[in-house]
Amino acid sequence: MTTHFSRRHWLTTTATILGSSPFWAHAAEKSAAPRFELPALPWDAAALDPVISASTIGQHHGKHHAAYVNNLNRLLPSSPLMDASSLVDVIQRSARNDAQRAIFNNAAQVWNHTFYWQSLRPKGGGTPPSELAKRIDADFGSLAALREATLSASTDQFGAGWVWLVLDKTQKKLAVVKTGNADTPLTQENLVPLATIDVWEHAYYLDYQSRRKDYAAAVFDKLLNWDFVAANLAKA
Ligand SMILES: [Fe+2]
Repeated sequence: MTTHFSRRHWLTTTATILGSSPFWAHAAEKSAAPRFELPALPWDAAALDPVISASTIGQHHGKHHAAYVNNLNRLLPSSPLMDASSLVDVIQRSARNDAQRAIFNNAAQVWNHTFYWQSLRPKGGGTPPSELAKRIDADFGSLAALREATLSASTDQFGAGWVWLVLDKTQKKLAVVKTGNADTPLTQENLVPLATIDVWEHAYYLDYQSRRKDYAAAVFDKLLNWDFVAANLAKA
């Protein structure tokens, strides 16, 4: 995908691994508000076809995700978050603050979408790596039970939102949670996101119309990036 942004103040990145690479890298100049860049997809836009079509990916990344980045860059300079050190810092400082709701929504959507792309890969799904598979069996009973919990969360989420596989540090267990609209587990101290499925209509409507459960099942069975989950769990 091609990204069209001013490079004037930016640290550029094509990072594909969240956490270790600062795709949310911000301006080096102290006087400038942080500016964020649309990260490149970790695979070709057609690579997930037919589970998710190139048309859906093109719209989703090139229009929706890009719009969140543009909106955030437009809103930040006149906000109290000009000194934010990272995208996560923006998200956590604007969460639950009505005056900064627009910034939170766009910042969280930037992060959530980047995390979503990393959660998918061509020829994904299938059997998790052995250590992760053991953890799933211990915490959910079986991979099938995790799958069922994921599909139930996708259909139970009323309206737009996200379904997440997380580590609940309080319970010391893996869990499936759902969030509405732009909300993200990053705002809950005890939750570490491991993978996500976007259940906004724009993620699946072209390919599945209103069949959200079919989309979530196809993503779980054929696209879920278990290596990404295992890597996030290892550093949690
Ligand atoms: Fe989305």
